[in-house]
Amino acid sequence: MLKQVLEQGREAADAALQRLLPPPTQNPTSIHEAMRHSVFAGGKRLRPILCMEAGRMIGAASVAASDAGSPAASLPAGIEQVGAALEMLHTYSLIHDDLPALDNDDLRRGRPTCHKAFGEAIAILAGDALQTLAYEVLAQIGCPAEARVAIIREIAHATGTIDGMIGGQVVDLEAEHKKPDLATLEYIHRSKTAALITASVVSGGIYPGGTAADISRLRTYGQSIGLAFQIVDDVLDLTQTSEQLGKTAGKDAAAEKTTYPALFGIEESIRKADALVDQACAELNQYGEAASTLKALAHYLVERKK
Ligand code: IPE
Ligand code: IPE
Ligand code: MG
Ligand code: MG
Ligand code: MG
Repeated sequence: MLKQVLEQGREAADAALQRLLPPPTQNPTSIHEAMRHSVFAGGKRLRPILCMEAGRMIGAASVAASDAGSPAASLPAGIEQVGAALEMLHTYSLIHDDLPALDNDDLRRGRPTCHKAFGEAIAILAGDALQTLAYEVLAQIGCPAEARVAIIREIAHATGTIDGMIGGQVVDLEAEHKKPDLATLEYIHRSKTAALITASVVSGGIYPGGTAADISRLRTYGQSIGLAFQIVDDVLDLTQTSEQLGKTAGKDAAAEKTTYPALFGIEESIRKADALVDQACAELNQYGEAASTLKALAHYLVERKK
């Protein structure tokens, strides 16, 4: 069942991205080729999938409580566009994360990084372009205007400088070659990674009209799985090969990054990620069967091998 969710979610996100990204033949072609190079390189599409499945759960719960457990509950119409915008923002963050001035990586999603393939200038601009396109898409999503504005605010804040992706990236870089401490480590992981994952599930809940209580539960779930996700990313950097990951393994230790394994070791890091997933799942208990997909996704995030 989870395999199907992951496959169908990836297909829905990919189809939306194909429609929404300018064709590679559109002038200026270099930037559109670069954007597509990084977007269509085999990402897992976890943020769109989490958004869509949060939308499915909340949509089902609010339409017909009696039907909420039905696995056939459909996706809120048009929600894949929110997912596509999230994936554009995530891909922008990856392109910039790989730049020589940041993590200086050559391999991403099994391909040469954007700056390796297109040069640094175009890679910087491709990241910028994915960010602006994401907001152009979000401005047109098919939910009531109030929900649309709430989603835009949520996502903009989550990718910004205060407890958001950019703030986390700044502290991640500034913490290199320093003795890791727990407060800095948590700040980095919650900001650079958990914030956008949280915004993904929260946006999915806002889209079909989730209540304040729904949003608060989704936020807590998102914060826990988001932190678990980055802990596992740190562990995989140590335990997998570059071929398995599609990105360079062993980079964190080489750069003396502040990571969970650096502070706690691999086994304790995995225990912490598992505990966070249990906490996240408990938060969704009152949705009954309707929460089964989000719960399965939470487990998948820590069990994944890439
Ligand atoms: C990698 O994210 C960057 C982090 C935030 C840890 P993913 O592991 O979701 O990468 P893709 O999208 O599948 O390539
Ligand atoms: C990056 O964290 C998180 C982002 C905001 C892109 P990492 O630097 O650990 O991500 P990978 O391992 O290169 O994918
Ligand atoms: Mg990084
Ligand atoms: Mg990196
Ligand atoms: Mg990493």
